[in-house]
Amino acid sequence: MSTQDFADLTLFITGPTYIRPEIREAGQLPEFGHRDAENVKRFGPIMSGLREIAGCAADYHVILFNGSGSNAMEATVRSLVADGECVLNVSVGAFGDLYHKMAVQNGKKAAQLKFAPGEAIDLARLEAALNEHKPACVTFTHNETSTGVMNDMKAVCALVRKHGALPLVDGVSIFGGAALDLSASGAATYATSTQKSLALPAGFGILFVSDEAVEKAKKVQNRGFTTDIIGQLGRAQKNQTLTTPNTTLANQMAVQVDYIINTEGIQNRFARHIVMRDLTHAFVRSLPGFELLAPEGHRSPTVTAVRVPAGMTMARLKNVKEAMRAKGYLFDPGYGKLNTDLEEAGQRVLIRLGHMGDVTPDMVSAYLEALRPELLK
Ligand SMILES: Cc1ncc(COP(=O)(O)O)c(C=O)c1O
Repeated sequence: MSTQDFADLTLFITGPTYIRPEIREAGQLPEFGHRDAENVKRFGPIMSGLREIAGCAADYHVILFNGSGSNAMEATVRSLVADGECVLNVSVGAFGDLYHKMAVQNGKKAAQLKFAPGEAIDLARLEAALNEHKPACVTFTHNETSTGVMNDMKAVCALVRKHGALPLVDGVSIFGGAALDLSASGAATYATSTQKSLALPAGFGILFVSDEAVEKAKKVQNRGFTTDIIGQLGRAQKNQTLTTPNTTLANQMAVQVDYIINTEGIQNRFARHIVMRDLTHAFVRSLPGFELLAPEGHRSPTVTAVRVPAGMTMARLKNVKEAMRAKGYLFDPGYGKLNTDLEEAGQRVLIRLGHMGDVTPDMVSAYLEALRPELLK
């Protein structure tokens, strides 16, 4: 094997995302012991910085799970849904389906409310489902990566709370790319990960947990080990992880969180994502026969899904992917399972344009202009 063969592509998929040179270099910082005083030098600022990016304070605990966003999500289901209680999983796409699958596979009594690809959560339908299932917890996706739909998180949480349930939110593909205002959001838990808008390698699932969720978890039996929010919290309160962390990633994360807060600025980061989203929308509108999937008002600041013209097949999109690889980019030819379903149903398939993390508006523009002739061939 030769590492010379590893292509250095600029990633425009929806995660993992492009990593800045400074963060690649931070991967060379010294390893450390995770129960040693060196640990807190990294994880202390990481934990407090994540709160600042989320827009919360001591009202939410922060836990870093080894693994990725899924590990944080699974812990919420395992720790917060008691035997005999119902969890309602609201899905607007593949990742809403994933939360449901986690609940089912952990033996929870689970119901699902599903919306068609491209739709956002409709509050009237949600209310009917809340009345029908009377859930103790409701999971939903803030930003559905398979369709580029962003749900109105505050409104959904408010409705869920009106019905006395705890809202468990998956924010994997938006955290770090848009204002969250977590303290005012109504979420009982909010899960995310490192490899999307935070522009780091994958390796930690991040979970924000409210005090009420902690109190609820104490009453739930069989929470597992790594999926136990209470066990995790014991370590998190000391700025540690429950199990041995990836110290290379911890070094990179300490540098990146500091950069986001003190060099780029949190608000500037969020504003840059809006600029990149708007650039992407303008590009899509300039292409004949291409169409934004998400409805106005629910278009994600981090990922845009696009209906391609009729007749443009998945096979053709694979060729586009290879043509973009030759230009130094990794292109996203749509969420596989969804496109297979759409193609089989005779409907137009989708591509996804990622615009999250540390890519700049200039990089997005250059990418889109390199993509244009490939899509129009
Ligand atoms: C919205 C959403 N939820 C959950 C996940 C799963 O997260 P992870 O791959 O970090 O486990 C993803 C990954 O793409 C995602 O986009």
